Amino acid sequence: MSAIKKGVILAGGSGTRLYPLTSSLNKHLWPVYDKPMLYYPLATLMGAGIRNICIVGSPRDIAAYRAVLENAGRWGIKISCREQSEPFGIAHALGCAADFLEGDGSAVILGDNFFCGEEFLYGNIRAFRGGALAFTQKTPEARRFGVMELDRDGKPVSVVEKPPVADSGLAITGLYLFDGAVADHCFAVGVAERGEMEITDVLARYMSAGELSAVVLGPKTGWMDMGTPESLLQAALVVRQAAQNDAALIGCPEKTAYKMGFISREEFGALISAMPPCEYRQNLLRAALRMAS
Ligand code: TTP
Repeated sequence: MSAIKKGVILAGGSGTRLYPLTSSLNKHLWPVYDKPMLYYPLATLMGAGIRNICIVGSPRDIAAYRAVLENAGRWGIKISCREQSEPFGIAHALGCAADFLEGDGSAVILGDNFFCGEEFLYGNIRAFRGGALAFTQKTPEARRFGVMELDRDGKPVSVVEKPPVADSGLAITGLYLFDGAVADHCFAVGVAERGEMEITDVLARYMSAGELSAVVLGPKTGWMDMGTPESLLQAALVVRQAAQNDAALIGCPEKTAYKMGFISREEFGALISAMPPCEYRQNLLRAALRMAS
């Protein structure tokens, strides 16, 4: 089981890249194939054995998040919500969860981040012992993200938010592990050039203290951020393909709850039976039968 017991999903922000979709409905509630975006980061945290999860969102959206996750109590997890008054940046959003964290270590995931084939992540989450750890991946689009450079020993030597040129090609994904000092670091960072309190500045503070490590995800771990029309569609296609090929379902909290032993087989069955007839139910039913055989 993971040494980290708490998780935070950051689901505030403005979603400008998805305008006009986001003019009335926050992106984290938008469908990614057959379920709301929020399910995906939630299932990723649950798959790491994390059962105590806080969602940070704008005051407007918190009620909708609670409604979307009204069944979460039956998934063997506890959900708390915290408000972020304005989208002042990812570090600011994480600071809003300070009283949830209470100085404990945490796995923090951006609400629009999509991971699949996460087994590799989970080993690292279980092994985490302190400082901060960023999961990174090589991508030709690294400039769209925070970018990290590593030395020959794999130690981070630079962390820059959306640089004009990304020589290393190493994008910082939206999944981080932090020790109990993270809220203090979040409160200490200033407002950066983009007008936001950046998570890369939090990582840089850990780096200066020699407490930042990095894991480079290989091609077996899929990652994308779902914050643009194109990546939203691509993520949906990956989920559809997995469902249609009877491969492991992606982003299903009910299935993850059962797989992780948070709920019994009977409880899993009862959750499925309580659903109206829909494709999601059919897919879960098939997964349940596969898991039983
Ligand atoms: P971003 O994609 O950086 O910002 P955004 O969601 O506002 O979208 P856009 O860039 O299109 O305007 O945010 C990444 C994730 O971090 C997203 O899932 C929401 C979360 N976030 C917060 O929780 N609070 C914030 O203040 C910001 C900026 C982002």
